[in-house]
Amino acid sequence: MTSLDPSADSVPRPEPRPGGLQRLIYASRQNLPPGAALDEVVSDIIAASIRNNREQSITGLLLVHGGWFVQALEGPGAAVQDRYERIAADPRHAGAKVLEIEPASARAFGDWNMCARSLSDADDALLDALEQRRAFSPDRLDGRGALRLLKAVRDIQGRAGFG
Ligand SMILES: Cc1cc2nc3c(=O)[nH]c(=O)nc-3n(C[C@H](O)[C@H](O)[C@H](O)COP(=O)(O)O)c2cc1C
Repeated sequence: MTSLDPSADSVPRPEPRPGGLQRLIYASRQNLPPGAALDEVVSDIIAASIRNNREQSITGLLLVHGGWFVQALEGPGAAVQDRYERIAADPRHAGAKVLEIEPASARAFGDWNMCARSLSDADDALLDALEQRRAFSPDRLDGRGALRLLKAVRDIQGRAGFG
């Protein structure tokens, strides 16, 4: 039966295809090896990420804040899901929770095969705006909120890497 609701089907949603562009965002808790410095762990992660992601046309952004990682991965659907499964099994973090997995019409983080960003005090306004300052709990964000957070981080990220 045809729906008479004029809003029905008004938002075209592309079919997820294995080769189609997909975006996945997850949040996880940092779980650093004893004695390990966060910036060294992150540097190692980024070096491996750039190498692997470039080969698979994956781009993205890794937010490092308050004991959390929040990462966006975007690229061909099968590659993104395969990469995410490997990442989720990495002992340097735990409890990875997928916040968004959606077909995407364009890359939001296409400048980087991977780039890490931590937030400084000067970035508090950003967290305020996202109501994430008092208790940074990205695992409670929905897909839209998670994408908004990472896009805001993208917009304050200059050419510098982790810092
Ligand atoms: C928070 C976090 C994010 C990561 N992101 C990526 C990534 O985007 N791409 C990647 O290849 N590896 C990433 N890794 C590392 C992988 O878990 C894994 O160590 C790596 O892919 C293995 O690389 P190798 O095949 O060169 O040994 C990440 C690890 C963590 C803890």
